[in-house]
Amino acid sequence: MPATVILGAQWGDEGKGKLVDRLAEQATWVARFQGGNNAGHTVVLGEQVLKFHLLPSGITRKECHLILGDGMVVDPWVLDTELKGWLESSGEDPKGDRLFISERAHIILPYHRFMDSLDKKIGTTGRGIGPTYADKINRVGLRFGDVAEVLGDDAWTTATVARMNASLEAAGAKDRITHENLAGNIQWIHDTYHHCIANTGLMLDNALKLGEHVILEGAQGCLLDIDQGTFPFVTSSVTSRGNATHGAGIHPGHVEEVIGITKAYITRVGHGAMPTELNDEVGEHMGTVGHEFGTTTGRPRRCGWFDAVVMRHAQRINGFTGLALTKLDVLGGLEELKICVAYELDGKEITELPSTASAIARCKPIYITMPGFPSLSLPEWLAMAASANKSGKGISMLPLAAQQYIAKLETLVGVPCTSVGVGPDRDATIDCV
Ligand code: IMP
Repeated sequence: MPATVILGAQWGDEGKGKLVDRLAEQATWVARFQGGNNAGHTVVLGEQVLKFHLLPSGITRKECHLILGDGMVVDPWVLDTELKGWLESSGEDPKGDRLFISERAHIILPYHRFMDSLDKKIGTTGRGIGPTYADKINRVGLRFGDVAEVLGDDAWTTATVARMNASLEAAGAKDRITHENLAGNIQWIHDTYHHCIANTGLMLDNALKLGEHVILEGAQGCLLDIDQGTFPFVTSSVTSRGNATHGAGIHPGHVEEVIGITKAYITRVGHGAMPTELNDEVGEHMGTVGHEFGTTTGRPRRCGWFDAVVMRHAQRINGFTGLALTKLDVLGGLEELKICVAYELDGKEITELPSTASAIARCKPIYITMPGFPSLSLPEWLAMAASANKSGKGISMLPLAAQQYIAKLETLVGVPCTSVGVGPDRDATIDCV
């Protein structure tokens, strides 16, 4: 069976966790391939709300193997906290049994967090992501597979402490690293994880050769991609399809299905322009009804109308085979719905996303307007989803205006919807037929 790639198509927070959790029922492997604990994935199982930053969302399916892949940056202390939380709620410690960390994945150390805490420009999550990727690109980073080799190596520790403290001093940070701390951290990482560090690309390749189903779970979204996003207001990894297999250590030929997750509107956290941002009561409606607060930092997300320019850009980069539309229910009760189809930039109409932050900031959205649909309660949406899936009627059970809205998005992006989310619960999803 080929691999399925799940990617955020906007600025992250599109609802990847919920979809991966749902699809993982059919999968034996879920692998993360980039990013780190800047991600925040929420899975709602009835009364239970699970939030993950590092653990792949397939953790809720006990038969699923979990991979933290080659292209990731992993904070071992955050992973430890998450694993302890999982042990408490499920009684399971999956390390080395069904959870494996790539020997090529880079380690986020306290130094990287100190450096990230100095950020004032981008509005990062402060988790050390950028500085860890910077060390990787500078070829001085520490990978999980290197830990056993540097363990007890005094010369390495001395040189690393000197390098880190020189950088901290140059950057104006107050924090410093000591020899004792770094050596102790390396020992702890070794003791805690040595039995689950593996050649995870090889494991995934073998699984695929045996016909097993692998889900490659993206983090962040296309517009936060270091190459293809709204630079410099982006994360420090390639979040797009091209890196899904590369960052997992397998070849692109394994992939047949690429699902782009998109909200029925759009949100963003951190700095950087968002042309359809709403600072009015409609934006407030989206934020309140959609509970738009960052899973990782708790910051309020900026909300706006669906932006087809952004989505066409994401489609060009990723070649989605299907769209999973999420949070359609949030738009319920709005009298009319707007969709941005183009921008006006310096008096000219454009249909492609500009490459510079200042040009994006000058873009004024050009909208089409569609009729709204009524708001329903959560139990009503759940009942509709259950009946739509059971009867095979799919989204034809949605109010007509909602169906028209979805059809318009599909036409504008040029990709069919495979599912429509109508609430946070795992079952509040209507499969498109
Ligand atoms: P970093 O990834 O922590 O370096 O942050 C860089 C930018 O990406 C900031 O604007 C963050 O708010 C944003 N970002 C990083 N991860 C996520 C995510 O999972 N969802 C939404 N935004 C994110």
